[in-house]
Amino acid sequence: MTTHRIDVRLPGREYPVLIGHGVNQHIAQFLPATARRAVFITQEGIPANLALPIESKTVIIGQGESAKSLATIETLSQEFADMGMTRNDVIIGVGGGMVTDIAGFAASTWHRGTPVVHVATSLLAMVDAAIGGKTGVNLPQGKNLVGAFWQPSAVFCDLDSLATLPERELRCGLGEVAKYHFLTGDDLLALSLDERVARCVAIKGSFVEQDERESGKRAFLNYGHTLAHALETVGQHQLAHGEAVAIGLIFAARLARALGRIDDSRVDYHELVVGQTYSLQTRMPAGLDIDQLMAAMARDKKALQGLTFILDSPQGLEIVANISPEIVRSELVHFSQS
Ligand SMILES: NC(=O)c1ccc[n+]([C@@H]2O[C@H](COP(=O)([O-])OP(=O)(O)OC[C@H]3O[C@@H](n4cnc5c(N)ncnc54)[C@H](O)[C@@H]3O)[C@@H](O)[C@H]2O)c1
Repeated sequence: MTTHRIDVRLPGREYPVLIGHGVNQHIAQFLPATARRAVFITQEGIPANLALPIESKTVIIGQGESAKSLATIETLSQEFADMGMTRNDVIIGVGGGMVTDIAGFAASTWHRGTPVVHVATSLLAMVDAAIGGKTGVNLPQGKNLVGAFWQPSAVFCDLDSLATLPERELRCGLGEVAKYHFLTGDDLLALSLDERVARCVAIKGSFVEQDERESGKRAFLNYGHTLAHALETVGQHQLAHGEAVAIGLIFAARLARALGRIDDSRVDYHELVVGQTYSLQTRMPAGLDIDQLMAAMARDKKALQGLTFILDSPQGLEIVANISPEIVRSELVHFSQS
């Protein structure tokens, strides 16, 4: 059994991420020493089987983005109160990114901050959502609008969990894995699955260490996400997030080429990684309205100065603001017909 340990080094809040088959069995060793009680937050259908030497209780939350809500946080907080949870105890999120976002946010507000441990069970949570301390819930007005930065005490990425993950959810994770190919220039294709997940965790960790609160470089983690978020919104979530990211990566490469930043071979490399290596869909679904997509991209959270994309260059990724709407529209029209 190969176990990888990556430490996310934030001053005073350093934590380990353990990756490998069977790592969940070590969870008791990584709980805060003060914890006398634990609450597991999870969903139906998620394999858990986590043994703890302290009193514990499991709370099942609902599925999907509609359950990633303040109402769920209130329910959880009442459970914590009934159990007499103190801020020396521990909250453990066992699930995909939805669960780890909820568990992290509930922990950040319970007694103004209680330790949280994430047991990531989806590929997307392992390589992305469970790492880095962004937590939050949705409002009817938009995704992740209420939240907090709250770093976990430890993260577990037990690859055995992936055995029960539905095929489509695996694809969603692969969309984010594909993104990491372009963040550092590493040859992720040469790595085995456990090494690849560990490398993605290390890449995400290094961006978080450099820019915990996303005032600069952490934004590169949103590569491919400008069109992706628009595709999700305009397409009324027919595409899941990771599927939309895969398409967004290809569009970002084509836009970078149109702006003279990269050449054909680099665009081809995007197609190779996303389409051939990970077998992800690389083109937009038919019938999406270009005007609506343009409007949604203009509302992107990065768009503080006009249309803003993370774009590739010979020096690596860069944030590019104030891109001509005519060029973006023209590329989008070509892309939608390709
Ligand atoms: N905080 C961050 O930095 C960050 C980053 C990326 C995404 N996110 C968030 O992550 C969420 C998406 O995460 P996701 O893709 O993991 O989706 P998800 O958490 O909704 O999980 C998808 C489905 O898979 C099920 N599932 C998870 N693990 C399973 C397993 N091992 N076996 C069987 N079923 C399993 C879940 O119950 C759910 O039905 C979104 O809410 C997104 O906003 C957060």
